[in-house]
Amino acid sequence: MRVADVPAAAVDEPGFAEQWWAWIAEGRVPWLIAALIVMIALVQRLPEGRRPKVRLHVILVLLHVFTVTLAAVYDTAGYDAEVYLVAALAFELFAAISIASTVAFRLVMPRIGLQLPRILIDILTGVVVIVALIAVGKRAGFSVAGLITTSAVLTAVLGFALQDTLGNMMGGIALQLDRSINIGDWISLGPGTVPGRVTEIRWRYTAIETQGWTTVIVPNSMLMKGQVTVLGRRSGAPVQIRRDLDFYVDFRAAPNEVTGPVTAALGSSAIPRVATEPAPQVLFFGTKDGLGWYRVRYWLQDLEIDEPTDAEVRVRVYYALRRAGLSFSIPAQTVLHTARDEARAARKSEAELTRRLEAIGKVDLLGVLGTEERQKLAESIHAAPFDRGEAMTREGERDDGLYMIVAGDAAVKIGVGDAAREVARLGPGQFFGEMSLITGEPRSASVVALTHVDTYRLDKASFEELVRMRPEITDAVAELLTERKMSLDAVRGALDDETARAQQRASSKSDLLGRIRGFFKL
Ligand code: CMP
Repeated sequence: MRVADVPAAAVDEPGFAEQWWAWIAEGRVPWLIAALIVMIALVQRLPEGRRPKVRLHVILVLLHVFTVTLAAVYDTAGYDAEVYLVAALAFELFAAISIASTVAFRLVMPRIGLQLPRILIDILTGVVVIVALIAVGKRAGFSVAGLITTSAVLTAVLGFALQDTLGNMMGGIALQLDRSINIGDWISLGPGTVPGRVTEIRWRYTAIETQGWTTVIVPNSMLMKGQVTVLGRRSGAPVQIRRDLDFYVDFRAAPNEVTGPVTAALGSSAIPRVATEPAPQVLFFGTKDGLGWYRVRYWLQDLEIDEPTDAEVRVRVYYALRRAGLSFSIPAQTVLHTARDEARAARKSEAELTRRLEAIGKVDLLGVLGTEERQKLAESIHAAPFDRGEAMTREGERDDGLYMIVAGDAAVKIGVGDAAREVARLGPGQFFGEMSLITGEPRSASVVALTHVDTYRLDKASFEELVRMRPEITDAVAELLTERKMSLDAVRGALDDETARAQQRASSKSDLLGRIRGFFKL
């Protein structure tokens, strides 16, 4: 009922209570209160932390009841209560909109798995509020829509004042709609800024929480204009970020003595939050401050727990090094003071000689040598270690070293056409490089290290001396050399007939023996 409808001079004017009751109970207030109670009951069932606030809804309903009460007071006192009734209508509409919005967007939609971006919810609610304002304006007798559309000055002033805010708002809308940045992403805004996890994308700003328990409020326009790095995101791959941890080891340790055990330890069993794909890597970076410089590279799956995970990885590295008889070294200025005394030099060369003798003992071919001959040979060879994948000889190259393998495996390969064909495998106790040394021809094949390979190298002069000491060695070498040559030729397709091979073998061997004897002038 409208106040204007009540004749001023009515005989039976209602009292305050009747009027109030008529507006309250016969109006929409009971429905509004019922909706409010149902909404509050539903909100209470949500887990704490996800409950939307209901204070505004309650205040709006109370304001509605209050303005209706005021209107009733004024009306029964004989004054015009229209303005209060308009206010009551406005509060009623706002209360209804806020209740409906909470029920729809915060209670119902999440339950059916529909999660609208916050900004979209605000836009929808905003549109409904404008419609409500127009309705209220109409009731009050002026056109809100007309005011908005015709007032160019108002529009210009508002536009000017809201320039930055509008930029941020458009940024916020764009960010939410194109999903370039999502809640939960870890982002960094460039050098000198602290990265953090996105917790909120609002109209004006985006909030990121850092590991230092701080929240950074970034205006959306900044995110739109500047470069933003989304950490750990790669299309088609899980979220994980690369971490590099440097460590230092005594420079005298061979790189494979460090990288091998550490790689094995990092891959032996899973470390929490460390990705298995890509697997952790151990890289040799050279030397720094007089130490061997290494880097563990791994991929972290939980960006929040970075340093504790680094620590766990370092602990693994520490124990791996200890098992390998090594330890972390600290980069420091170290003065290596070595006394050049005779005893120390003798000790060192004795240890090296023992190692060489051990190596000689492993080579079958040299089994015929006596102690003195071995000793002599040991003095003329030197260590030549190779890393996995290295070519120890290259097919076609000129070089005349003979290598004795002490540890590790190697593959003998030759190029047939464009491809490399593996002809044989060599391991500890075997040797290679004898062909070039004896025949003086370029290397017949490439010998490639399949693992780390420890060898001792013997040069031509020392081999010559060896053959002079033990001419019978030439037979064994010629035998082996012929076998090897035959298999090379077979792979190259030069010989396929069995009998031709036998003949070739006989002539080849005597030919080679002759060449060897000639070569060493025996
Ligand atoms: P050289 O030709 O000096 O360099 C390559 C070496 O590979 C060669 O000496 C042999 O020692 C070795 N080699 C070649 N063919 C074979 C084979 N079939 N089996 C084993 N070793 C081989």
